[in-house]
Amino acid sequence: MAKLIGGITTSHVPAIGRALARNSQDQPYWKPFFDAYLPVHAWLEANRPDVLVVFYNDHGLNFFLDKMPTFAVGAAPRYETGDEGWDLPPLPGFDGDLDLSWHLIDQLVARDFDVTSCQEMRVDHAVSLPMAVLWPGQVWPVRIVPVCINTVQFPLPSARRCLALGAAVGDAIRGWKSDQRVAVLGTGGLSHQLDGERAGHINPEFDLRFMDSLVDDPAWAAQFSIPELVEKAGTQGVELLMWLATRAALGGPVRCLHRNYHIPISNTASGLMLLEPV
Ligand code: DHB
Ligand code: FE
Repeated sequence: MAKLIGGITTSHVPAIGRALARNSQDQPYWKPFFDAYLPVHAWLEANRPDVLVVFYNDHGLNFFLDKMPTFAVGAAPRYETGDEGWDLPPLPGFDGDLDLSWHLIDQLVARDFDVTSCQEMRVDHAVSLPMAVLWPGQVWPVRIVPVCINTVQFPLPSARRCLALGAAVGDAIRGWKSDQRVAVLGTGGLSHQLDGERAGHINPEFDLRFMDSLVDDPAWAAQFSIPELVEKAGTQGVELLMWLATRAALGGPVRCLHRNYHIPISNTASGLMLLEPV
């Protein structure tokens, strides 16, 4: 059976792409952010996953307001990146893993998750930039299966539902007849709001409590409705749903091997966690 070796949760911000392209990693603004990934690089080097299941939210590249699945799973041989209007230099695309994709889709539908299967899918900065930060300057050494959760067009799935989705994905990975090593990656959050009168809203107290809860009490955030999460974390901070799905995929107790919280990167409170099943 496949082995689910760990989970990484991280923010995604377009400005990271510009910093990478301009080699700004050692500038005072960026250094604490990029340095925080060094322990994760060491873990990836030591643990070498073959495939990454990536929980992320598309921001209008692959899905737009005319068609917005709540949950979508990639089933493509290849996922290219695209121009999203952030003036980011293009990054190479990703190889998929069709066998794991269809296994996930089969298992999720069997557990009553009505996912949209995507045999053509482009991925945006929410996939490409975390990958570029995890493997800087490298051709990706892993295949990916993207799992997209809608956080753009209301109504959004609840925190409770995202925990259940993540748990089902984790069970499916552990039940995949394969010798591959799989890790889960969740990208988005933490608190940030890009629009409206409250643009710039950041809530460190909530973020830090949320990061704590992810280790020992992942259902903590499920006490809040989506409007309550938006009120606390901001309209885009609700991307923390990806962190919940990632944590739930790991199942029972986890060890937190590394965490970092840094304010701000662009408009975002950036967070990072590395979790391993115990
Ligand atoms: C920013 C953050 C995001 O999550 C995003 O998708 C786009 C921009 C920002 O802080 O600039
Ligand atoms: Fe985002």
